[in-house]
Amino acid sequence: MSREDKRLSRREMLGMAAGAGALTFCGDAASLLAQAPATPVFTPSIILGPFYPQIKLSEQDADLTSLAGRQQRAEGKVVYLKGRITNLKGEPVSGAKVSIWQANTHGKYRHNSDMNTAPLDPNFQGFGMQTTDAEGRYRFKTIKPGPYPAPVVGMRAPHVHFEVEAKHDRLITQMFFPNEPLNDQDHFLQFVKGLYREAVIAKPVPPIVGIEPEALTFAWDIVLISG
Ligand SMILES: [Fe+2]
Repeated sequence: MSREDKRLSRREMLGMAAGAGALTFCGDAASLLAQAPATPVFTPSIILGPFYPQIKLSEQDADLTSLAGRQQRAEGKVVYLKGRITNLKGEPVSGAKVSIWQANTHGKYRHNSDMNTAPLDPNFQGFGMQTTDAEGRYRFKTIKPGPYPAPVVGMRAPHVHFEVEAKHDRLITQMFFPNEPLNDQDHFLQFVKGLYREAVIAKPVPPIVGIEPEALTFAWDIVLISG
């Protein structure tokens, strides 16, 4: 075997190292892996959709489950959504305006174009907004949205629409929930592949201390290109 044949390409070494498992690869491959840049994955954009609120309620805070002056909270499963917004360098994006809007637990939007016959929930805010803190963090309390039949594209998996307005970037996208049977059928999620698909699906995390015992907590970090 020639000296040339013995010399493995960087790609081959990385492949071998990956195949051998993270704990068993040889030193040379390990040093190559250490030098290899992590694949930067930004959060992909997904369509605004037809149900962006035309008329927003006056209350637009980060708790979508209750409205001032109403005794009852919104119907459905309470979920907390929390995450951190960073740029591709991993720097926190502070001061970004984060808006969310979504269907209620029955899969109905408060929107005149929503022809779904499911009921509206008078106690559900449907739209919320907040600004990221110095670490780029956001947090919303809301209701797990129901699936719904969308015009033309069929049943949508449960999702929350996000708009992030930062100093340099504006991102419009959608966050999905893990292990939802409809995720594999959702028209828009099918366009998002590989790491980018993973990037739009939230992760279940231990509940935030002190919240309602039956509530679920999901973490979803957002990566902007510049911030
Ligand atoms: Fe939607």
